[in-house]
Amino acid sequence: MSAPVRSKRTSVSDIRALKGVRPIVSLTAYTAPMAQLLDPHVDFLLVGDSLGMVIYGLETTLPVTVDMMIAHGAAVVRGSRTSLVIVDLPFGSYQESPEQAFRTAARIIAETGAQGVKLEGGEEMADTIRFLVERGVPVLAHVGLTPQLVNSFGGYRTQGRNQAEAQKIKADATAVAQAGAFAFVLEGTLEPLAREITDASPVPVIGIGASPHCDGQILVSDDMLGLFNEFIPRHVKRYANLGATIGDAAASYAEEVKARIFPALENTFQPKRGG
Ligand code: KIV
Repeated sequence: MSAPVRSKRTSVSDIRALKGVRPIVSLTAYTAPMAQLLDPHVDFLLVGDSLGMVIYGLETTLPVTVDMMIAHGAAVVRGSRTSLVIVDLPFGSYQESPEQAFRTAARIIAETGAQGVKLEGGEEMADTIRFLVERGVPVLAHVGLTPQLVNSFGGYRTQGRNQAEAQKIKADATAVAQAGAFAFVLEGTLEPLAREITDASPVPVIGIGASPHCDGQILVSDDMLGLFNEFIPRHVKRYANLGATIGDAAASYAEEVKARIFPALENTFQPKRGG
């Protein structure tokens, strides 16, 4: 019996090897059809817990559950062929102990087919990262502005504004790299500091609201596709305006239904002649 043919996905070692070679490209994805569209263009897809806000209309990422991450993670793996897929560990599912983090990560990897997990935190999560990596769970760390700490930070404030904050982020970056994270996301951090951290890091630094000098960039796909019409954060560049396109399409559909233009005859099923 021959082994099933598998498509070759980007691996965590491929991502590590890109440091200093070319910028790493990443976007978030939460559904199979979006994963299918983004897959040919990115090195890795992140099933971020931002899905709580983007998909479920929650105010923060804090209520997101492991079951939600598994449902969306599995959809993104099914929809993609070549990208590395990383799934976020949601708030409360890993901070208690390395053992709790391993149980959650193992379940997510087994039930989604993703190749690794992301977790937020620096020095305080280093032992957990080491525990996971030594047991076969690749970890993408996340330092700087960490949205799961919204209540402790008192909002989503750019980090690195004073000496103490800058020292903390540098210590966090060093700790997660030394603990074995294959890369880390650096979010919402002042530009010169983000550049300094990238230059000093032995592993790829993936920026979001950080620096063009980071080893790679990530954006929430719905932000860069313009699916939201409200506030556009400074770190986001809109590459499309799909929100307006969807609104226009829905308005045209509504007009045509009311005017009995849609469905036209070609959109209906006619009995066969003589049948
Ligand atoms: O949850 C998420 O989408 C993220 C990215 C913004 C990095 O953590």
